[in-house]
Formats: sequence, C-alpha cells, structure tokens
Amino acid sequence: MLSKASGCKVNLLLNVLGKRADGYNELETVMHPVDLCDRLDFERAETGIRLSCSDNRLPTNSKNLAHRAAALFLQTIGSNDGIRIHLHKQIPIAAGLGGGSGNAAVTLLALNELFGHPLEQVKLGELAASLGSDIPFFLQENPAIATGRGEIIAPLAPFPTLSGTYLVLVHPGFGISTPWAYAQLSKFPAAAKGEPGRAQNLVSVLQNDLVAGGKEFYNSLEAPALHKYPFLALVQENFRENGAIGALMSGSGSTTFALARSKTEAEKLLEKFKAKFGVNLWTATVKLAPE
Ligand code: C5P
Repeated sequence: MLSKASGCKVNLLLNVLGKRADGYNELETVMHPVDLCDRLDFERAETGIRLSCSDNRLPTNSKNLAHRAAALFLQTIGSNDGIRIHLHKQIPIAAGLGGGSGNAAVTLLALNELFGHPLEQVKLGELAASLGSDIPFFLQENPAIATGRGEIIAPLAPFPTLSGTYLVLVHPGFGISTPWAYAQLSKFPAAAKGEPGRAQNLVSVLQNDLVAGGKEFYNSLEAPALHKYPFLALVQENFRENGAIGALMSGSGSTTFALARSKTEAEKLLEKFKAKFGVNLWTATVKLAPE
C-alpha cells in the first residue's frame, strides 16, 4: 500500500483580469501551500476504480476528483488494471483551500509511482490542468504565481518574511461554489477586470516587508462572496482589529485566513475570534513556513 499526505493552499492574492473566450476567467494568483492534510491510501487491484472516503458527504464515484484523476491516468497509460483508494478527509470541503484539487494531484503522483513512472512531469501537468485549474499547483511543493486560468505555475522560492509565521483558518459552516463565485463577477465590474501586476508586486514586497505584504493581500472573488455573506467581512474585521498582519478569503471561499507573526499570536487571534463568534465553527492554526 502507498500512503500519501495531500495538502491544501491559500491564495495570498487572487486577481481576476477578465473573462476569456472559453468562459474561464484570466487571473494572476499567489498560491501558498498549507500543511493541513488529507491522507490517501492507494493499492493496485485487478480491475476498476474503487474509492472509499471517511466523510460520507463526499461522492466516491466519478464526481470525486480523485476518482477522475485515477480514471484519466489509467486511460492515458492504456491500462486495464484497477486501483483501490481510501481518502481520509480532514480539509474542509468547498472551502477555497483546494483540498479536492490536492487529492487529484496526489492521485496522479501516486499512480505514476505505483505503475513505475510511465508519465513525465509535463504530461502529469497536462492531465492535472485538464481535471481542474487549481490542480497543477499541487504537483509541486513551493509557493507559486499561477496565471492563465490558474493552471500555469511559476514556482517561487519560500518567502523570507513568512518564515515562522502562522495562519488562523476559519470555515464559516457553509461552502461557496466556485462556478457561482466566478459567475457573480458580472455584477461587480471592478472586481471582474483587475489591473495586472498585483501578483508580482506582492511577491516583491514579501521579500522583505511582512506588514506591507499583508496590506497587499487581495481577492477579486470577495466582491460577490462578502456581498452575499456579510459574516465573512465581520470575521476579517475581527482578525484585523486584533492585530492580524493580513486577513482574506481564500480562493472562491468560504474559508477566511489570518496571517500571524508567531504561534502565540495566532492562538491569541483564534481566542479573540472564539470569544466573539463562539466555538462551533471549524478553525485551525497552522504553521505557514518553517523557520
Ligand atoms: O477549473 P475548475 O474546474 O476548478 O473551475 C471550476 C469553475 O470555476 C469553471 O467551470 C469556471 O466556471 C470557474 N473558473 C473560472 N475561471 C478560472 C477558474 C475557474 O471562471 N480561472
């Protein structure tokens, strides 16, 4: 059996540049890996793809990205062999953290390993992009600027200023559908057509100024999400009032993250959050980058 951790991400910046002819939105985004993980176990089988999952809210058929990734891999290498996959789910669902995308990427990597590396990295990238815009990011482990529809990945060296920092993550108890968030942008013209250059600017600022970097965090998809769910704006406000370096919705939501200088600061932010909003929501503190 091959067992693999499957992490997630936050978008420190997600700038939508405009709608494309193919219906997707052109964007520039700064993605950062987050060490909050699902676990997937893989075992070769004679035929078929059998997926089981610890969370019964998730489909285990071809609607699940891990299932789709396995089917696409086997079809691409022309194999009639089968695979058994078990997914231990920890990352919240429809949360803007890319949990499902990570599962798909890890499935491609694991099957490639189990079948003796028949596919090159470039081919895995193509398969990943065909499964979903966020998936190629998870084939590598660094922060990255992603462009195109999010599938063109330029890996970055770890940011010096983020060393030792922590994230506080809050899931508000409801998910946001990615197609819904992008479709709503037509009602928010400024958010739908951002000026290019913000991602590169954030990357430059974060080389030596953490506080200035936090001020550059931006997400075009907050326009529709915070309009429909004002609670998300209150969460961010609470984090900022209590000294977060930055607070933002990740991806198409619904998770909000706050950046804190240290573990102690992150725990303090979370305590203040719980004092105001109660203890029933899913929350986590997680180290963003090693010291
Ligand atoms: O690529 P993925 O399957 O994750 O995208 C889900 C949906 O999100 C797309 O069908 C599209 O509606 C929207 N989307 C978009 N522009 C992007 C990425 C996603 O409009 N860059």
